[in-house]
Amino acid sequence: MNYENIVLDFLNGITTITINRPKKLNALNKDTINELHSAFDAADADANTKVIIITGSGEKAFVAGADISEFAHFGIDEGGKLAAQGQKILFDFVEKLGTPVIAAVNGFALGGGLELAMACHFRLASTNAKMGLPEVSLGVIPGYGGTQRLPQLVGKGRAMEMVMTAGMIDADTALSYGLVNHVVELEELMPLCHKIAGKIMRNSSVAIAKAIKAINANYIDGKDGYQVEIKQFGKCFGTEDFKEGTTAFLEKRKAEFSGK
Ligand code: COA
Repeated sequence: MNYENIVLDFLNGITTITINRPKKLNALNKDTINELHSAFDAADADANTKVIIITGSGEKAFVAGADISEFAHFGIDEGGKLAAQGQKILFDFVEKLGTPVIAAVNGFALGGGLELAMACHFRLASTNAKMGLPEVSLGVIPGYGGTQRLPQLVGKGRAMEMVMTAGMIDADTALSYGLVNHVVELEELMPLCHKIAGKIMRNSSVAIAKAIKAINANYIDGKDGYQVEIKQFGKCFGTEDFKEGTTAFLEKRKAEFSGK
């Protein structure tokens, strides 16, 4: 696929996806969502990619939301389809990927932008980042999973306040809420993402994929996460990485994981 709205970069096991519509503050239009789906899918399928980082181009925005100009004229059916399709191909898709996905929130992460960051496995922010779900100020509600993932991350009361006020919180508040894991100066954001990715890459990628599945299970209605954990734990015993990890420990050497 030819990408017009995103830029891909691969370095030392890390695929970085940069949303590249700086003049529109990287707002997510339909084409960008389709391109992101394709890029995430390809990176996840690439055995050399051990971690995916997503960020926004420029120094102002991660993503300033879904592209308002594209849905302003929609009716009820189109509105419902917009949310369903977006959740399926991007937001739920990213959350369920077996490859770790880190959001590098480098500026405004609003509406669909914050929802995209929240669909990632965890988030780092730069000091200039501002986060919020301003949808009710437009007469709509978050439609890309925000009403579910924000309370999971920050608690129901804080999520209610953020959604009802449509306000923005700064990076330090997001840190204190547990919405982001680390806050650093903008120029330190990608280096810190790479440093954390480096730590992740030392471990078994096949075990990490199973851990993601087990952690996510807790947030799926009707799924017993403990049972999913038991099943995924058992499956690890059939992997090459398990043999290598345990053998290396007993032989007092560093494990060399094949990811199988
Ligand atoms: N959808 C479409 N276009 C958007 C956009 C969005 N979500 N967010 C920003 N843009 C566009 C603006 O329309 C503007 O385009 P123009 O130069 O062609 O007029 C450009 O990006 C720059 O934005 P601007 O508003 O001029 O920048 P600012 O620094 O004054 O304000 C924000 C920054 C983020 C506060 C403001 O752009 C904003 O409120 N955006 C919408 C946020 C939102 O409601 N998101 C949820 C959508 S569901």
